[in-house]
Order: sequence, then structure tokens, then C-alpha cells
Amino acid sequence: MRLYALVWASIAVVLAVVFRAWWIPSPSSPVADLVLRNAVIFTSDESLPFADSMAVRNGRILRIGNYSFVKVLHYQHHVTIGQAHEVAGYGTKHLHLGGKVVVPGFVDSHVHLIFGGLQIMRVDLRGVNQKDEFVRKVKEAVMNAKEGSWILGGGWNNDLWGGELPVASWVDHITAYNPVWLSRMDGHMGLANSVALKLSGISNLSEDPEGGTIMRTVGGEPTGLLIDSAMKLLLPWIPEVSVNERREAFLRASNLALMRGVTTVVDFGRYFPGVSPELSWEDFADVYQWADTTGKMMIRVCLFFPLETWTRLLDLIGKMGRVISQWIYLGGVKAFADGSLGSNSALFYEPYVDDPHNYGLQVTAIGTLFNMTLSSDKSGLQVAIHAIGDRANDLILDMYELVVSTNGMRDRRFRIEHAQHLAPGATARFGQLGVVASVQPDHLLDDANSAASKLGIDRAQKGSYLFRSLLASNVQLAFGSDWPVADINPLGGVRTAMKRIPPAWNDAWIPSECLTLNDALKAYTISAARACFLDKELGSLSPGKLADFVILSTDSWDDFAAEGSTSVEATYVAGLQAYP
Ligand SMILES: *[C@@H]1O[C@H](CO)[C@@H](O)[C@H](O)[C@H]1NC(C)=O
Ligand SMILES: *[C@@H]1O[C@H](CO)[C@@H](O)[C@H](O)[C@H]1NC(C)=O
Ligand SMILES: *[C@@H]1O[C@H](CO)[C@@H](O)[C@H](O)[C@H]1NC(C)=O
Repeated sequence: MRLYALVWASIAVVLAVVFRAWWIPSPSSPVADLVLRNAVIFTSDESLPFADSMAVRNGRILRIGNYSFVKVLHYQHHVTIGQAHEVAGYGTKHLHLGGKVVVPGFVDSHVHLIFGGLQIMRVDLRGVNQKDEFVRKVKEAVMNAKEGSWILGGGWNNDLWGGELPVASWVDHITAYNPVWLSRMDGHMGLANSVALKLSGISNLSEDPEGGTIMRTVGGEPTGLLIDSAMKLLLPWIPEVSVNERREAFLRASNLALMRGVTTVVDFGRYFPGVSPELSWEDFADVYQWADTTGKMMIRVCLFFPLETWTRLLDLIGKMGRVISQWIYLGGVKAFADGSLGSNSALFYEPYVDDPHNYGLQVTAIGTLFNMTLSSDKSGLQVAIHAIGDRANDLILDMYELVVSTNGMRDRRFRIEHAQHLAPGATARFGQLGVVASVQPDHLLDDANSAASKLGIDRAQKGSYLFRSLLASNVQLAFGSDWPVADINPLGGVRTAMKRIPPAWNDAWIPSECLTLNDALKAYTISAARACFLDKELGSLSPGKLADFVILSTDSWDDFAAEGSTSVEATYVAGLQAYP
């Protein structure tokens, strides 16, 4: 009895296999995992700017175009040649999108991912526009903290309460037993309370380190503010965050990115002037490699490491290759030329209007930068340098030019991060030298008022955030957020680049520099991908590329451009829904 059953079962299995082979296309024929239909797909691909359907297989785009084109695939079979075959088959998931807008997954060209994830859990002073509120938020944190533990946080912007810089005495009376460190939103200065100053031995006798300033009272006492590399007098005293905290921060950050439609980030790590370059390497080992080997990666990351550690990156690429997995790409190296506008440390030709002896800070000596850039470039590494002031940008353009003439022409895609304020002629030089301008549209919302008071109306109007001029000079614009300096929010950034209207302004800041929707979206997708050498894999919805895309809440292209109400409805990475 049992034997018969077994025989019949075996025959059934054999028949099923034979029958299946006969009438179902061979498993190697491309059946789609997912088909999108009736969408308004913006592709970022010049050869087919819009489509309404897309088929995805194995995480990549199989076909894109109109539905009748996408649904039928002519494939070669070992017996029949050119037989028509439906792309959709058993198990294919269909998404009928009812005319919704779909865009490529956004590539955020400049984030500090783990730092951002840590900041989410700390004192958040972003948007605070009164001293009282500043103090209240710190007080709240102190009440929840153990005596002696550090109160950390930041995101404050003194321009929001009229410009006065905070001083230790603002918080000393409520923080007698806790050291405090609150970084400014730009990360280029921070406020320490008196406990923290004492702990780290910063006093009226401390000297300013090169590339940094200890702010002092008229009497020479430190006020609590430390600018750029002066921060390195204090930061080593803050206990290192645990591996677990950093891993959790990374996961929080990845989820936030997906929620905003970001599927790839270029991560510049926890690296600021005054911060040890070791941190980036610790994060790589403790967080990224952990996440990659345990299946915790949710977004793609392209990693940049401190320029001074370029030989280490070169060794790593030698060992593992540039593509560590479909999630992790080893990008290149980064350094700083200057500080920031908000901290009066961006380097300009003319002094700050509100600080007439100050031209800003050159954070790294140009000879050192040149030597390290020359060697990294010779080894094939991509170099990105932070430059905000007009003089800093020119210094780096000169330096890049010298490296190009020394090492010879090649596709190197040198980057300048921020490129905020440019002297006449600089946009053309970006173009001639093929230097990528990695810029953050949302910074212009924060900078609009301070640029007028720090640079004067005339300078601020002539050379700030020259997106359209850069494009007109054939410069590769790569958009990003600089999160957590600004929010990670590409839809917001796209609108800012189109409108350039800061809060409480009626008109655009330099209207002639507004971008079209098309240009802004490209700067956040294909152009950003090109800027980090990932354009063969992602950045546009083109056949063969990774199926990273975002479904928006709107079905109207015009509404999307005009209104602030469009949001991210779903984010797909490699053809799989990752949010919500
Ligand atoms: C669909 O796309 C194909 C290939 O691009 C094209 O040949 C065809 O004319 C299109 N059909 C319609 C109805 O637009
Ligand atoms: C530094 O401060 C201490 C006490 O706060 C004071 O006694 C000393 O005179 C100051 N020194 C200088 C050089 O200002
Ligand atoms: C740059 O490199 C040259 C040659 O190796 C060396 O002589 C010079 O001291 C270096 N300069 C700096 C600032 O590191």
C-alpha cells in the first residue's frame, strides 16, 4: 500500500517536472518579479525621460517604457528564437499606481550618517529661536541625566535669535554637575559649559590651536565657544559612544533616509576639524561591516574617509575592492579647506562685515593638502574637499589644477563639498577642470539672513549658491543635505533649488539662480550618482540598473513642482519595498 503510494507520488513528480518544462518558459527566461503600471515615471535618463511602466527582476530594471512594450519580451530560447513572452508570470507582483509620480531613489551626496543617527537621540536645538528655549531644552536633558554624565547635542543656530552667540553662563547655573557640549548646526563650533571647560583644561592660559579659535571675553576668559580645530581641545574628553549606540544610530538613520526617499548616501563620517580621523575607521569596522555581514543594510552607502588616512583606504580597496557588496562602496577621501559661514570661519577674500579683522580660517595648510591630494589621486582615489568661502574655493581649484597638470588627465571627478560662495570666474573654472560641485540647497535657507549680515548685501547677492551658473558652465551638480546639519529631505531640497525663498522672505534669493524641476531632480539622482562613480549602477531608471525608486503621493507633475504637500509614499531598494 505504502509502496504504491510512493510510486504514484514519484510518477506525479516526474510528470509535473516534465509538464512544467514543456509549458512554462525555462527558469532562465526573464520573468519579472515586479511590474509597475500606470505611473508617471521620471527616469533621469536622457534617452527616455518619462515612462509609464517598469519591470523589475532580481533587483534590477528589466524593461521600462509604455505598458505594451514592457509586458512583452522577445527572448531567445534554445529551441525557438524570437518567441514572444509575457514579462509577467507566476509570482510577478503588479503595482497599479493610478498615475502617481515615480522618481529614481534619491542619492544624498553629503551626509554624516552615524553622527546624524546619534544626534536624533540628543538635545535637539534645531529651530530654537530664543535663548529661553535653548536653556529650557538643556535643563530638560539635565533632569534626565545622571550627575557627572555629559549632556550632548546641538543643531543651534544663533541667527535664529538675532545673532548673539551663546556663552557658558547661559547654562552654567543649571549644569553645575554635568559637562555640556552643544555643537552649532554647522558642526564648526560648539558651546561648552564651565564644567566641560575645566574638565578639558581650557582656561585663559590656553592658546588657540592652528586652524581654530577659543572665543574669549574682553578680559581673556574663554566664553565656552570653541571654533573649528579648537574643538579638539575638548572633544577627546567626551567618552566615546559605545558600539551598540553607534549601530542603533545607524539603523535609525537608515530608516529616516528611506522614509524621505533616499536610497543611497555619500557618507563623510563623523569627521570634522578637530575630530580624530580614527572615528571613521572605527565606524567602518564596528558598524558598516557588522551591518553588511548580518543583513542589516537598508540603504546603499558610498564611504569617504579622512584624507590624511588615504593609504589605509588604498590598502582596503586593494584587499576588498571598491565594491564591498551591493550596499557598500568605498568612495574616496575628504579634507577641509575652511570652516563655515555661520561660525565666521569660512575663508573669504574680504573680511566679515560683522567682524572686520576676520577673513575666516584656513583649516588645513595648502602644502599638506596638495601633497596628500597628489598622492591619493596618483593612486586612483577620488578626492573631495570642503570649501565654503570664495577664497577657499579658489585655493582648492588652484590646487586641483596643479594636481591635474602634475598627474595628467584622467576621469577623476574631483569634488568640492559645499562650494557656497564663489568669486567671479570660479564657476567657469569648475567647468574647465571638471570639478564636481557637491552642494546643499537647503543650506541657503539657513544662510540667507546671515550671508547678508556677514558678507554685506552686495557680496551675498553676487556669489552665493550659484547653482544655475554652475550648470551653465557644464558643472556636475550633486545635491545633498549635509544631514544632520540640515534635514535629510530631498523633496524639500528640490523645491528649495527651484524657489530659493528663505523663511520670512517674499522673493527668491538671487532669482536668476533658480533651477528647473528637471535639473533639480537630476542633481539629486543621476548627477549625484556620477559624482561618486556610481552612475553605471544607479541614479536613473534605466534597463540594467538597480531598481531603487520612490513612489510619491502625487499624481500631478505640476503640483509636485508647485506645492510643498507632496510626500514619499513608498521607497523601493533593489525592487523590494523598504518603506513603509
Ligand atoms: C510603446 O513603446 C514602443 C517602444 O518604445 C513603441 O515602439 C510603441 O510605439 C509604443 N506604443 C505606444 C502605444 O505608444
Ligand atoms: C586667568 O584667570 C585667573 C583666574 O580666573 C586669573 O587669576 C589670572 O590673572 C588670569 N590670567 C590672565 C593671563 O589673564
Ligand atoms: C610635500 O612633499 C614634499 C616632497 O615629498 C616635501 O618635501 C614637503 O615637505 C611636503 N610638504 C608638506 C607641507 O607636507
